[in-house]
Formats: sequence, structure tokens, C-alpha cells
Amino acid sequence: MATLDILQVGHPTLREQAQSLDTDALASEHWQGFIDDLIETMRAANGAGLAANQVGQLVRICAVEVQANNPRYPEKEPIPLTILVNPVLTALDASTLTSYEGCLSVPNLRGQVTRNAHIRVDYLDRDGQPQSRIAQGIQAVTYQHECDHLDGKLFLDNVGDPTTLTTWENFERHHRR
Ligand code: NI
Repeated sequence: MATLDILQVGHPTLREQAQSLDTDALASEHWQGFIDDLIETMRAANGAGLAANQVGQLVRICAVEVQANNPRYPEKEPIPLTILVNPVLTALDASTLTSYEGCLSVPNLRGQVTRNAHIRVDYLDRDGQPQSRIAQGIQAVTYQHECDHLDGKLFLDNVGDPTTLTTWENFERHHRR
């Protein structure tokens, strides 16, 4: 396993659409090894998630994991390690949630984003098995943030009020509440 370089905002690959992966390709040593590296990279960076685009691969794979006491996101509820391949999101009702987001590809910046608060995500796991998960609140936000990466979007695109943008230090000092 290896940790991969995480691309930073401005890199064109972060703005490209990732391609679906079929189950034969997914089963290959190449992509299984890539998934191991994606997990290792996410954990080394204390990320709550990491998408393939962020490490320079345009395939629809992302990882999500929130361990208790993540230093970047102490407020998030735990999410067990989940690999999502070809994920599809569906909003389950009209409820929304506004929260501060940050991203490993956007250094030292957070901002408020409004997203669906109740979603279902359908995806293949790393073994190619179809899975479905329902998520609410901050967990729903995490899935939407990662899936956006696969469509070349960053949370910055969804910051409705740019005056909410803040460094992490000023978030702790003024906005955590
Ligand atoms: Ni991100």
C-alpha cells in the first residue's frame, strides 16, 4: 500500500467527470490495489472521505469513513469504512441541512453549504455487490460531498454565502459555537 498525492484546488482533474467502472475492472488487482491506497491516503490525512479524482484517477470510486474523535471533524458522527463504486444519490424528502464543509483538496478553508438532509445512496461495494444505504444529517452531507467530486464539483461551488468562508483556525475561534 502507498499514500497518494492529494490534488489541490486548481488542478484540472478535480474538475473532470469520473467514469463508471464495470465489475470485471473493479475486481482487477489494479483497482483493488488502488482502493487500498485510497483508504490509506484518506486515513493518513484524517479525511472523512476521499474521491478518486482527488488522487488523479477519473473513476467513480470514493471512500468514506469517520472514526470517533477525528481531529479534523470532532463533531461528525462515526461512519464505518465504506467504499462506494458508481454511487447514485437520491434525495428522500425536501429537508435540507446547512453545515460547514472542508475538503482535503481545498487547503485551510471551510464554508457553509446547504444540502439534502435525507438521502439514499446506491452503489457497488469493492466486491462488486450492490448496496444501498440511507443517511441523514451530517452523514448525508458527507456522501453528497464525496459524490460531487466524481462529477468534478467542489464544495466551494455550493457555498451560497461567500462571507461564511473561514480558515480552520477562525472556524474554531469564531464559528464552531
Ligand atoms: Ni472533498
